[in-house]
Amino acid sequence: MTEPAHVRAARKDDHVQLATEQRADHQARNDFDDLEFVHHALSGISADEVTLSTSVDSWHWQAPFYINGMTGGTEQTGVITRALAIAARETSVAVACGSVSIALDAPDDDVIQRSFRVLRDENPDGFIMANLGVGRSADDAKRAVDLLEANALQVHLNAVQETVMPEGSRDFSDWQHSVEALVAASPVPVIAKEVGFGLSRRTLSVLSDIGVRVADVSGTGGTDFLRIEDARRNDTIGSFSMMSGFGQSAAACLLDAPADAPHLLASGGVRHPFDVVKALALGAEAVGVAGTFLEAVQAGGSETLVPLIGRWQLQLTQMMALLGAAQPSELRRTDVLVRGDLADFCRLRGIDLAGLARRSESRAGTQAVGFTASSDAPTPAASMSPISLASEEPHR
Ligand SMILES: Cc1cc2nc3c(=O)[nH]c(=O)nc-3n(C[C@H](O)[C@H](O)[C@H](O)COP(=O)(O)O)c2cc1C
Repeated sequence: MTEPAHVRAARKDDHVQLATEQRADHQARNDFDDLEFVHHALSGISADEVTLSTSVDSWHWQAPFYINGMTGGTEQTGVITRALAIAARETSVAVACGSVSIALDAPDDDVIQRSFRVLRDENPDGFIMANLGVGRSADDAKRAVDLLEANALQVHLNAVQETVMPEGSRDFSDWQHSVEALVAASPVPVIAKEVGFGLSRRTLSVLSDIGVRVADVSGTGGTDFLRIEDARRNDTIGSFSMMSGFGQSAAACLLDAPADAPHLLASGGVRHPFDVVKALALGAEAVGVAGTFLEAVQAGGSETLVPLIGRWQLQLTQMMALLGAAQPSELRRTDVLVRGDLADFCRLRGIDLAGLARRSESRAGTQAVGFTASSDAPTPAASMSPISLASEEPHR
């Protein structure tokens, strides 16, 4: 049964408000803090040699980070979407909208339609991703893309959020078939994404098998929809707070990704450009940012977000020069140390961290460093992991 538009509109406004409140008491630490680069004092290059442009599958983006799907569907979120669109246009970053299902179910509601359409109206030449929940029809995929003249379609897989959402779905049994159908129907490539709980190694393999070419692992450590939905429950239906921390971080997902994964995007808990650098070093082709950019827009609209993104682009360029990476994919040759809880995850999943800590040596040709060279006995699965490679194309 289709939910009335006003219920979904109220939920979207709740999400924005609760996500914003959550940032005030936000836990500063996340898995990106368990990653360190080995500093090589003679490996730097000139910032003039650095380009931020990146390839995501067959797309060429001018920056290796983008504004992830959040808003649209109400008057208030239309204002935010407009600010995000202007920021995307002014800084040439790709941008996604929040779920358009509310617009598909209320085609005659001008406020709802405009709250999404503004993304394209303000940013006519930009790279725009429409966003739809799994379970929607093939026709909906086409209409979602049409609404925004979108370049790609994000399909969100949000089972954890649905579980805790008071009015959420309780049946996920047909999701794989649904994704398959949406991929077949969509006139533009589908990006499968989580909403902050991570895509596991097995999920990434399945997505690849059913034809998904790009996946955003969107992991834990940033906006927490378990807490957001829990705050929308009341005492009668009971809290799910005992599940706090459920899921995997973006860093964990990237480290655990299989060789046959789709092209990888990473998001979840990205706070600053150093997190972007770390996600790129672990194999992401670009990095999504939601909560951090929403906070900037809430503070001062596009006038605050545009200079913030400008600073990120500059700082990213300088960090890449320090790390000797002329383009984002070259960050995959850096030596990365994994510590703390993230190292524990890797140990339990059989991921070789010694190879990752010394992978630049294979470029210099001094020593072949990879999983087989590790003292930890690698599992067959781990030997396929992207971190074993110091190449441009870690996932294929
Ligand atoms: C207010 C808000 C609304 C969101 N709405 C959607 C949505 O409609 N569809 C979706 O795929 N993801 C949605 N997300 C999830 C983000 O795209 C992202 O996956 C998640 O917030 C983790 O990134 P972050 O830690 O940078 O916020 C939303 C996030 C926020 C903060």
